[in-house]
Amino acid sequence: MDGRRTLAGPELIDLHPPPADMWRLVEEGMERQPRQLPAWLLYDAEGSRLFEAICEQPEYGLTRTETALLEQRGPELAAALGAGVLVEFGAGSARKVGPLLEALRPDAYVALDISADHLRAACRELQERHPQVPVIGICCDYSELTQLPVHPLLGRRRRLGFYPGSSIGNFSPDAAIALLRQFQQLLGPDSRLLIGIDQPKQVALLEAAYDDRAGCSSAFARNLLTRLNRDLAGDFDPSAFAYRAWWDAGASRIAMALVSLQPQTVQLAGRTWPFAAGEMLITEYSVKYSAAAFLALAGEAGWRGLARWSDPADDLALHLLEPIASGEGPAADTAGAPQADSGRPPR
Ligand code: AVJ
Repeated sequence: MDGRRTLAGPELIDLHPPPADMWRLVEEGMERQPRQLPAWLLYDAEGSRLFEAICEQPEYGLTRTETALLEQRGPELAAALGAGVLVEFGAGSARKVGPLLEALRPDAYVALDISADHLRAACRELQERHPQVPVIGICCDYSELTQLPVHPLLGRRRRLGFYPGSSIGNFSPDAAIALLRQFQQLLGPDSRLLIGIDQPKQVALLEAAYDDRAGCSSAFARNLLTRLNRDLAGDFDPSAFAYRAWWDAGASRIAMALVSLQPQTVQLAGRTWPFAAGEMLITEYSVKYSAAAFLALAGEAGWRGLARWSDPADDLALHLLEPIASGEGPAADTAGAPQADSGRPPR
């Protein structure tokens, strides 16, 4: 009881997020037109493994591009973020935060993730690699959390949000606005948010990224059916569905779906669901935002752009945001804000 912090390793706070009411959510999704299930259902253990395989496919550049950008611009990003506690939303295996921890040396690093196992392993590894930064894992659903637990390292310090991976693209624009508002509630009025945004690009490149030749994307989507069979008493035959990914220009998004190859009926969650031949089950959307479109969305959620970095091909952008001070309108003058842009006009 000498009050010293020993290097006992990272701290894990388990908020025991209540298991989502999967049956109800799946019923709701199956009743939609077209059918669409929540994207997080894709990430069971096998789904998480398949997603990591997708990230290594030559067609899927997002992860590599973002990782390289974080490595190359680490010191610049750290300087723009300033001092504080770094909070990562949906840290997963926390593979991207390394360069920021190195350059920023935050007062603490807080990793939020729904999967306790992933989180424990990731925090342990990070704590070992960055012994100077206290690492705190919080097992929670980051889209539900509105405040951090009371903790001696977390009170009264500026909070710096980190949301890489363009995961915001999985949310509808309305849900994305709600999420960004909620991040601000959690981070506070003096915060910053560094967020990775995959940008619109050539349709052929986008469609290939979500339907790689090795078949990882298709296996990832199909695994949803296997999961439903296991967890919700389903009897899907994954081979009776084709996987499709296509660019929906109107909504600026890739749509991913399983398409029924024949008329069939499926048991799921205690009910029988007919599928017509060609009927779709949307597994996921991935919205792509140009700089202007993203900043407009962020503005609606009470954030303003401070700086933006992107790779030479302008495939992916890191946006640094700050809260629009209360009392100021969303159309506040940003002319004096530093622009750490790649030098090309936004698309
Ligand atoms: C994790 C949402 C960023 O949309 O690119 C990749 C998910 N799904 N391939 C994306 C995904 C199929 C990914 N995000």
